[in-house]
Amino acid sequence: MSSLGNLDSSFADTATIVTGGAGGMGRAIALAFSAAGSSILVADVDDVGGRQTVDLVTGAGGKAIYQRTDVSRADEVAAMVAASVSNFGGLDYAINAAAIENEVDFLADLEDDNFDRIIAVNLRSVFLCMKHEIRAMLGAGKGGAIVHLAVSLVLPSRRQSIMRPLASASMQSAPGLSRHRCCSMPSRREAETHRRSQTGLACSADSADQMK
Ligand SMILES: NC(=O)c1ccc[n+]([C@@H]2O[C@H](COP(=O)([O-])OP(=O)(O)OC[C@H]3O[C@@H](n4cnc5c(N)ncnc54)[C@H](O)[C@@H]3O)[C@@H](O)[C@H]2O)c1
Repeated sequence: MSSLGNLDSSFADTATIVTGGAGGMGRAIALAFSAAGSSILVADVDDVGGRQTVDLVTGAGGKAIYQRTDVSRADEVAAMVAASVSNFGGLDYAINAAAIENEVDFLADLEDDNFDRIIAVNLRSVFLCMKHEIRAMLGAGKGGAIVHLAVSLVLPSRRQSIMRPLASASMQSAPGLSRHRCCSMPSRREAETHRRSQTGLACSADSADQMK
């Protein structure tokens, strides 16, 4: 944990959402961002783990809240972002670490519902989270940063391609979606420049157009 805790002190007075923050990578990231001064909204469907993460953060002197959020649900993702804005005054960073794996390993054994659920949690969530996170960041006129955790883009072996097919495929689609949208996010400096120029926009015309 401490190796992740050496983030820059510029995270002070910022707000960070960590989906999948009830455990694993998400919890480690929540603790690291908190140690660097950011206020943390832990979002997960694991209420016990999520509250444990909050206790760990607050026990270490940080500030955190838990918001139960199924990242595949649009209404819950919107409420998650709204909770960051209402509790912390905005949203500066979003770490989207929520994910699920295949329930079975062999493609031919996958149930249709399992396929739909994995796509919803690992891919649809990327769209939903980005949509609402970007809106909050641009709305504040400050810009921000969004990070998605996924598996590597290394192509699976022939055996892996039929044995561990879906979670990997769903996550490998996410970078294409996030790269397209995140490339059009203005930097903090750009956003501030535009805010000061009183254009009423938080980003350039081109990038604003791409983000619609
Ligand atoms: N653990 C690693 O070493 C590692 C390495 C590289 C990449 N990753 C990637 O990082 C991400 C997280 O990995 P992890 O090991 O921390 O996984 P994990 O299973 O420990 O944690 C995932 C979290 O997501 C939550 N979650 C599941 N469904 C959800 C939903 N619908 N809404 C909200 N939360 C939900 C779970 O409750 C859990 O807390 C994955 O995308 C994984 O591929 C992990």
